Amino acid sequence: MTESQLDPEQLRAVIARELTGARQRTALLTDSVDEADLVRQHSPLMSPLVWDLAHIANQEELWLLREVGGRDSMHPEIDPLYDAFEHPRSERPTLPLLPPGEARAYGHEVRGRVLDLLERATFTGPRLLGHGFAFGMIAQHEVQHDETMLITHQIRSGAPVLAAPSPGPAPADAFRLPAEVLVPGGPFTMGTSTEPWALDNERPAHTVQVAPFYLDTTPVTGGAYTEFIDGGGYDDPRWWTEAGWEHRQQAKLTAPLYWRRDGGQKNGQWTRRVFGREEPVRPDEPVVHVSWYEADAYARWAGRRLPTEAEWEKAARFDPATGLTRRYPWGNADPEASLANLGQAFLRPAPAGSYPAGAAPCGARQLVGDVWEWTSSDFGPYPGFEAWPYKEYSEVFFGPEYKVLRGGSFAVSAVACRGTFRNWDYPIRRQIFAGFRTARSGEAETA
Ligand SMILES: [Fe+2]
Repeated sequence: MTESQLDPEQLRAVIARELTGARQRTALLTDSVDEADLVRQHSPLMSPLVWDLAHIANQEELWLLREVGGRDSMHPEIDPLYDAFEHPRSERPTLPLLPPGEARAYGHEVRGRVLDLLERATFTGPRLLGHGFAFGMIAQHEVQHDETMLITHQIRSGAPVLAAPSPGPAPADAFRLPAEVLVPGGPFTMGTSTEPWALDNERPAHTVQVAPFYLDTTPVTGGAYTEFIDGGGYDDPRWWTEAGWEHRQQAKLTAPLYWRRDGGQKNGQWTRRVFGREEPVRPDEPVVHVSWYEADAYARWAGRRLPTEAEWEKAARFDPATGLTRRYPWGNADPEASLANLGQAFLRPAPAGSYPAGAAPCGARQLVGDVWEWTSSDFGPYPGFEAWPYKEYSEVFFGPEYKVLRGGSFAVSAVACRGTFRNWDYPIRRQIFAGFRTARSGEAETA
């Protein structure tokens, strides 16, 4: 059900539910650590958690209370502190940020006023309000910061503070799945012009020709990745792009981020740190915390390549039986717990082959949820792209320095995860919850 199919009362209820759900997660991620941990910078790559907390409130105030509601700024003096474009993450701890208590109070105050505004909203008039877009954008913004804050939790050292159940074993048929599935060649509709809460970079819908190709049925697992390591994958420049090899040497990469080999022994068991707990690498779990360069090198070592972004989206959305493009791999219904691993319900990807009910028509599983998947594509605009509602959302990032990731991770909430959703990052980044799957070109079908 897309937001455009709801009546105003249903839409109001959906918005309230999404905003409230996001705030519960924000509260959990920031109440679970002490004040010192909230203001500390756990990595120069990340903001202090207390910055995220007030920035969430500030964006909500800016877009909903000021742009939509026509109110004045509540605290003009702090606005520049929370503008992500004025201050890179590395310098945010040096700013006179609101202390935790004040940041929480600010968020609470803004949210109260927003819920009042929502009560009276008609969802008509300016484009920002149509189908509740601005509210949806703010709910997505908050859950995106919930993912960012979860990354900070993973980086943080010290006693574990987060816990979640395990996703459970893979279904019985996971071990019989084919290694790869065929995605037929031909045109498909990429992107969207109809999802009301889609962001500017997902628009507009357009036809793309994709040649037939094979895609891994599941994301690459820790076990498969260990074979790449043991097979000398990190020591052989043949598998790496020139920039990738240079980075691998300079950053001394030998394994995914957070992996460690028991006692440093050559044949010791690999362990990894997961939210403060050291555990054996699970061979059937999708590998996570690898850079684009590592994913690309693995694919070459395996005699394959990363899928393009268009290939990924076709595998995830195209239904050959109808020729139509779906909202999600499983169809048009919204995500739920039986279909995909989303929303930090678990703090890890589910074993490869999980979620058979969420499979795409091509047979690939876990395209949505579990791990972000690196694609070979640079982040760029679709034909007919229009920046909206502001240039800094996507347009300033277009270019060859960013690679596209698709599908969302276990840390993303459903409201910010669509079959069309696009994420992007530098090819060296490893702290994000990113894995990958590989592809190879197929034969053109002959009559
Ligand atoms: Fe933000």
